[in-house]
Amino acid sequence: MSAEGVTVRSLLKKKREGKKITMISTYDYLSARLCQQAGIDCILVGDSLGMVFQGLDTTLPVTVDEMVYHTKAVRRGARESFIIVDMPFMSYQVSIEEALKNCGRVIKETGANAVKIEGGEEVAELIHRLVSMGIPVVGHIGFTPQSIHALGGYRVVGRAEEATRVREDFRAIEDAGAFMVVLESVPKDLAKEITENSRAITIGIGAGPYCDGQVLVFYDLVGLVEEIKPKFVKRYVEGARIFREAIKRFIEEVEGGVFPSEVESYG
Ligand code: KIV
Repeated sequence: MSAEGVTVRSLLKKKREGKKITMISTYDYLSARLCQQAGIDCILVGDSLGMVFQGLDTTLPVTVDEMVYHTKAVRRGARESFIIVDMPFMSYQVSIEEALKNCGRVIKETGANAVKIEGGEEVAELIHRLVSMGIPVVGHIGFTPQSIHALGGYRVVGRAEEATRVREDFRAIEDAGAFMVVLESVPKDLAKEITENSRAITIGIGAGPYCDGQVLVFYDLVGLVEEIKPKFVKRYVEGARIFREAIKRFIEEVEGGVFPSEVESYG
């Protein structure tokens, strides 16, 4: 499906029709343009940009200003796409009023279509308020990177007795009005059960094949992130190797006097 004309309604229709929904998390003009040209359904401007783009150890230091900056660039590259902005750590936890202001700001200043908020029951009231103000909300449960310290590091969330909590969190944010929920690092059978009993769209990352859709980070998908490769990441091209070889050839050609040639020179 072309990215043109993607709306909350068209995404929910896809779920009802059993058609898979595609999402890529990215942070810049050029990659967003490629995503739109390829026909992706949604672009998430994820706070993973803190780690992938800025080289930080966690997503925690990312600010609202940085999310606004990156989302504006993504919107310029993908004018027709359905764009979701990740609300960064502590931009929505302090009070409902501050959260409404921050979410309102990113929607007003960036032209994004929806906000994403991590958490379960504890963010249900906020989701309800945002939805009643006309801001579409995407939830995010299972492994929630902003709670990395509380969760004790990266891990699967929802095995054994933790499954009940994941089910309850999903129900709470769905009932509050989230039209879509990211399930991160959740056992595949739990993701299947949740998806089959949900009105909201489920988007999996490390949650198996049964979700309504899937999300990957652009830089993982194109193989530019080499240091870590979680089990759920699939590299569709070995980007880092290809780019490194191109850079090596540039160095060789400059050092060897081959580049620039007449072709790249002005008369
Ligand atoms: O920040 C991000 O990119 C995300 C996705 C991986 C779901 O939250």
